[in-house]
Amino acid sequence: MPEREEPVRLAIFISGRGSNMKTLVEACLSGEIPAKPVLVLSNSYSAAGLEWATEQGLPIAAIDHRAYGDDREAFEKDIQDTLDLHNVEFIALAGFMRVLTSWFTEKWQGRMVNIHPSLLPKYPGLHTHKRAIKAGDAEAGCSVHWVTEGVDEGAVIDQEKVPVLKDDTPESLADRVLEREHLLYPRALGKAIEDFLAREG
Ligand code: GAR
Repeated sequence: MPEREEPVRLAIFISGRGSNMKTLVEACLSGEIPAKPVLVLSNSYSAAGLEWATEQGLPIAAIDHRAYGDDREAFEKDIQDTLDLHNVEFIALAGFMRVLTSWFTEKWQGRMVNIHPSLLPKYPGLHTHKRAIKAGDAEAGCSVHWVTEGVDEGAVIDQEKVPVLKDDTPESLADRVLEREHLLYPRALGKAIEDFLAREG
């Protein structure tokens, strides 16, 4: 099979700070991941990460979910139109805090991954660090997984673990986990994209 020369066209979805997005962009630019960030998309105009992406000269889009009320598919159709404009091939959710419908997840099955701040299958959903501390867990961590219809349910690609310390608060644990997220996500996205390339050619 002839080797594909063009990097995979990647969109990164964020909702806020965007520190994971930043590590992914840097890993693409350094050649660690065979992908090119062609779009940073947020559901919030005020996401701080959009400013950093703009400074890097990356195309950005902000589509405010609140404008669509309960019509999640209409929101996602506008996202899809934007992805089409940029010829996006693969999506990395990086702190994107909207749940996607099956309309969107089926369209992107095998071409969309997410980072989640727990050792899945433990603690899908919100407040993961608080739940890990409350349960008395000795270990916490983060997972990168394929996105499927069920929230945080898709197959795990890779994980990183950290200890939970005696005096941890949800915030101190979140900080420790976030450091590992920045190691994990470029590595796991690299694996996911290799897998995609092996399937798609
Ligand atoms: C990260 O900790 C990420 O794992 C989490 O949001 C944070 C975003 O930080 N994602 C979720 O909770 C998804 N359910 P960042 O904007 O600095 O990357």
